[in-house]
This record gives sequence, structure tokens and C-alpha cells, in this order.
Amino acid sequence: MAFSTATPMAYFTCSNPSTDTLLSSSSLKSLKIPRLIPPFWPWEKVKMGPLTVSPMGFGTWAWGNQLLWGYQESMDTDLQRTFNLAVENGINLFDTADSYGTGRLNGQSEKLLGKFIREFEGQKRVRDNIVIATKFAAYPWRLTPGQFVTACKSSLDRMQIEQIGIGQLHWSTANYAPLQELALWDGLVAMYEKGLVRAVGVSNYGPKQLVKIHDYLKARGVPLCSAQVQYSLLSTGEDQIEIKSICDSLGIRLISYSPLGLGMLTGKYTPSKLPRGPRALLFRQILPGLEPLLSSLREIAQRRRKTIPQVAINWCICKGTIPIPGVKTVKQAEENLGALGWRLTSDDLLQLEDAARESPRKMIQNIFQTRCISYSLM
Ligand SMILES: NC(=O)c1ccc[n+]([C@@H]2O[C@H](COP(=O)([O-])OP(=O)(O)OC[C@H]3O[C@@H](n4cnc5c(N)ncnc54)[C@H](OP(=O)(O)O)[C@@H]3O)[C@@H](O)[C@H]2O)c1
Repeated sequence: MAFSTATPMAYFTCSNPSTDTLLSSSSLKSLKIPRLIPPFWPWEKVKMGPLTVSPMGFGTWAWGNQLLWGYQESMDTDLQRTFNLAVENGINLFDTADSYGTGRLNGQSEKLLGKFIREFEGQKRVRDNIVIATKFAAYPWRLTPGQFVTACKSSLDRMQIEQIGIGQLHWSTANYAPLQELALWDGLVAMYEKGLVRAVGVSNYGPKQLVKIHDYLKARGVPLCSAQVQYSLLSTGEDQIEIKSICDSLGIRLISYSPLGLGMLTGKYTPSKLPRGPRALLFRQILPGLEPLLSSLREIAQRRRKTIPQVAINWCICKGTIPIPGVKTVKQAEENLGALGWRLTSDDLLQLEDAARESPRKMIQNIFQTRCISYSLM
């Protein structure tokens, strides 16, 4: 992004050293915090490569997606308020993608983010610290590194900014078009070398492919700062554990997407109260077996005086990841901000994980998530 991501001057480590969390006393004093309950820690920050980000970001897949998320342009004013509330309360990481937005609204999520940044009326320093993480789709017609650089420039145009915080590959093609994979990797290198992105990341990369791209980028002098995977109490299998351990050993931040299981971990849906649209098909299969997990979430939420979504998001934070819950309204953003500023105990974590194991069906993994790539050339 054009805005500087300068680190605030005075940092001191948080009381829990295992979290790698940083506290800024200067931002604590100067932030104008709207009165929200429960309280959170807007000054808490996490290092991600060269960037300093909030321990939770917000996802914007819904901002422009009519099919799955029921987006309408009449929602824009509320989305802008949602964005402003988040930024004013210390959230500086926003995840988007060049493919977000359906039909004529393709790219709408990036466009809205750009507009909201431009029109943000808070402190310049706060606005300058916003980190946009966008993803470039591995469309079959993007076959050369140059085409990925062009895609990156198109994202910059849509957002009307000069530099993107994190440029991410949306998915790997190693499983079905291994030759294209090299164009993806070289595209990432080229956009980094041209200064179009401050840092680079991947999304939907499995353990083996993650190590490969990390090593390739390292040899080209490009540090890999983040790996985004579906990670929640409904998506915590062997892959997630392995990817987290690889991230820890290679200094990569794991970003958890769909931390609320597309809404199933909010407690508001039941087998007889389903969302509109295609989510209902998935929820109909998973929700009937989810009662043990939802009961545990409910019980812990009541005991800790939190809400179910706050507990589900806090679990992701306690696992050392950066969750990016999707938000569609001010109310959801307000509630999800309450996932910060406290921690589940280790007993709480065990209780939730035991309950999650009782669910007979887990989330469907992204079809592009690489797992077995023994036949891939890369
Ligand atoms: N890399 C990838 O391939 C990939 C894939 C998926 C997502 N992502 C990223 O991750 C982000 C988050 O994932 P997601 O949006 O798929 O799912 P999610 O975060 O698990 O669920 C988000 C949805 O839950 C509902 N919700 C959120 N907070 C709530 C609250 N406090 N109370 C009640 N309902 C609440 C909202 O939908 P309703 O109100 O309609 O229920 C919201 O859109 C995305 O926005 C995107 O940026 C990346």
C-alpha cells in the first residue's frame, strides 16, 4: 500500500510471551475508542514478516458476493461503518481477493476496501497502518508471471492504492496444472521485486507445497510471510496441525479463514433455522451433529461472560493463528472485536477440542487445498 506501515515507537511484550504479541503504549493513549462491551485490546499487535498487524483481521468475501452471502449495494453504508469501527478499534488487517464479488460485481470487495480507506476520517497514522491482504486467483488463463503482475496492478487500480500489504496466491495449481505453478511463484517474486506488494503469502497450500514454495521464494530473496488455510473448531485436522508446525518452524504466520465455520460456530443457525442460499446445503449436513460442540461453546461463553462467536474466534487466537472472521454488519464487527483482550484457559481449549471431535462431520476442505502432490512437477 501507499501508506506506511511504520511500527509504533514504544513496544513492550505482552504478559503472555508465548503469543508473540506486542503492545504499543503510544497507540493506547492516542486511539479514540468508541464505547464497546466487552472490552478489547486495540493496542495489541503481531509481527507478520515486515508488517505489524492486529491479532485478528476481518474477512471481506461477503462484500460483493450475492450468491453465497446475499450482498446488495444497499449494504455499503453499513459496511463502511463496519470498516470504520474495526479500524478505530485497532483492526488493521483486511483480507480480500481479486475474485471476490459475483457477476458484474467482480472485484467489489477490493473496490469497497479502497473507497473505505480513502474516506476514513480518523487519524492519518491509523489509516496508514492498514494492511490489505489480497489474493490473486490462479485462473487457467493466467499462465505467465507477467499476467500475475498485471493482476496485481488491476487490484491496485481497483483499490486506488500504490502498494498492497500482502499479495497472496489464492490457491496452488500443483494438483491439476503443475506447469502453471511456476508462473504463480515467479509472478509473486516479480510483484515483490517491483515493490507492488510489501510482503507475499499463500492460501490453500498444503504442507508439502508450502515448504516447496517457501524454499523457492527464499532462494529468490523473497520472504514468505503468511499461509492462509481454513482453520476453526470445525476444521482442525492433521493438515492444519502439520501446516501450523511448518509455519512455526519457518517463521510464517498462519491466517485462519472461515474461523466461524461460515457462520455455523455462531450458534445462530440450527437444522430448522438455516441461512438462505447454498450454505443451507452444507449446514443441513453438519449442524445435526454439532450439538456437543455448540453446547461447549455456549457453556464456556456463559462462564466467561463472552458470546459463542467470541469463544470460537478466541480459540483460533489461542492456537497461535490470526483469524479473519467475515463480517457483514456493525453488530457482527462489534461482537467479534470482543474476541480480543482475553484468553481461553487450557482446560477450555481441551473441552472445546474434545467436543469438536464428537462432531461426525467436519467442514469440507477447499478443493484447491493441496495435499498429496507426489505426481506434481513442482
Ligand atoms: N483463502 C480462501 O480460499 C478463503 C476461503 C474462505 C474465506 N476466506 C477469507 O476468510 C474470511 C472469513 O471466512 P468466511 O467469511 O468464509 O467465514 P466465517 O468467518 O467463518 O463466517 C463469516 C460469517 O458468519 C456470520 N457472522 C460473522 N460474525 C458473526 C457474529 N458475531 N454473529 C453472528 N453471525 C456472524 C456472517 O454471515 P451471516 O450473517 O450471513 O450468517 C459472516 O459473513 C472471508 O471473508 C475471506 O476473507 C478465504
